[in-house]
Amino acid sequence: MAKPPSIVILTGAGISAESGIDTFRGGKDGRGGLWEQHRVEDVATPEAFARDPDLVQRFYDMRRASIQTRQPNAAHHALARLEQALPGLVPGARVIVVTQNVDDLHERGGSQNVIHMHGEHLKAWCTACDTRIGWTGPLIDRPPCPACGSAALRPDIVWFGEVPYRMDDIHTALSQADLFVSIGTSGAVYPAAGFVRLARDRGLHTLELNLERSQGSAWFHETRLGPASEVVTAWVDELLA
Ligand code: OAD
Ligand code: ZN
Repeated sequence: MAKPPSIVILTGAGISAESGIDTFRGGKDGRGGLWEQHRVEDVATPEAFARDPDLVQRFYDMRRASIQTRQPNAAHHALARLEQALPGLVPGARVIVVTQNVDDLHERGGSQNVIHMHGEHLKAWCTACDTRIGWTGPLIDRPPCPACGSAALRPDIVWFGEVPYRMDDIHTALSQADLFVSIGTSGAVYPAAGFVRLARDRGLHTLELNLERSQGSAWFHETRLGPASEVVTAWVDELLA
């Protein structure tokens, strides 16, 4: 295959699984998506936050603390290598990572061009003054917003029923790309699950790299199955060879 000049890469929880961060669905023990008997979907909603803010803050405090103990794996590093090396092989080449993940492992792995469409664990959002700030500690004790002093900080996470971030940028990237690659996502949550069809409509080649066939697998021109650390690394090696 000729080296594509512009690649949009959609990532999901599966790329961080080998870093020890749980995926949302399909856990081997059947507990996938459960937290203290709550379905993740029941914790990650504005309604849940209104009903029981302590429960939701505690859940996100725990996950915010946990991701800071995790390290990027070979798949994150491979995508950073691709972003860095491809323009040297094909002048003008561009690699954009659009991630549904709220961890910072792409950045720590070395990727620079990352869109967090579902928000970020390491940011807090003040609902009083609309400021977003880097945040590594807990929120359960209602710390004051550094900008306005209100005790109105919430995790800067896009919950179910809220609008994902930077959709315009994502659509622009898809309209300018030649290749769409989906890594480690189950294809269960829209709008991300619909990107493959948008990509196909626009004539992009589409490739899925996942542990198992996802719900949207049939939409892809090509699927390669295996753990991200192996299949993503092999794919990047192939492109850069
Ligand atoms: P899911 O948990 O739904 O899917 C993870 C996918 O990764 C599955 O298809 C697994 O087969 C695959 N997988 C697991 N281990 C893997 C490995 N080592 N290598 C490669 N693939 C592996 O996660 P997402 O699709 O990211 O939303 O979920 C989408 C959204 O739903 C999340 O962003 C989150 C969630 O609710 C919000 O928080 C708003
Ligand atoms: Zn504020």
